[in-house]
Amino acid sequence: EAVLAKRADLAGLRILVTAGGTREPIDSVRFVGNRSSGRMGFALAEQAARRGAAVTVLAANVALERTPGVVYRDVETAAQLADACGEEFPRCDVLLMSAAVADFRPVAPPDAKIKKDAGPPPAIELEATPDILLALAAQRRPGQTVVGFAAEHGDGALDFARGKLARKRLDAIVVNDISQPGIGFDTPDNEVTIVAPDRERPLPRAPKGEIAAAILDEVVRLRTTATA
Ligand code: CTP
Ligand code: CA
Repeated sequence: EAVLAKRADLAGLRILVTAGGTREPIDSVRFVGNRSSGRMGFALAEQAARRGAAVTVLAANVALERTPGVVYRDVETAAQLADACGEEFPRCDVLLMSAAVADFRPVAPPDAKIKKDAGPPPAIELEATPDILLALAAQRRPGQTVVGFAAEHGDGALDFARGKLARKRLDAIVVNDISQPGIGFDTPDNEVTIVAPDRERPLPRAPKGEIAAAILDEVVRLRTTATA
């Protein structure tokens, strides 16, 4: 009975998850990328669907098994992710922004392969990408819950995360310390702290499915507190 109740506790909720890592073209065959596998985002999607939510995943370059019943849209670049988020965000109740979005991208990549004999090694000029999460959180309507993710390195990880929570006006941010061995990118386990304005909850190291379930519990709590 309790298990069944728990299973359906997200029924009626539309959850948008971004997962993976964006790739920014250098030319027609090369890109600037990052090490995000998409495991955390896909685990969130799987757990949320299991608990009754209607889940859409914007997947940036993720090569993982997909959950039946979840809607997936594939994107490659930060710009494509921003466009897809712009379309999907207005119709969601909860945004879980777990994708690793490139902060910089090559300016005006050529539409062909750069040849090695064409001259000296080219310099790659970069420009900043827009902060998708900042923009979405700023345009949200009442009742939308917005959760960010941050991979930080060692000392100061929590302080950096608190800063992002405030600057981007998030309901919560999930932070992991990627200086710890076996944690974070491309690993089956994670160890995170969920930072919300009113409390900070460290979660012991566990498989990403368990971490995902705890993050969804926190979303439920935040939404209950917000409407109480
Ligand atoms: N994010 C985003 N758009 C970007 C960069 C980041 O939406 N251009 C989102 C990420 O998906 C994540 C959150 O912002 O949910 C925090 O990302 P993070 O890289 O930790 O923070 P930044 O603001 O990019 O700062 P920095 O990389 O310098 O720590
Ligand atoms: Ca960043």
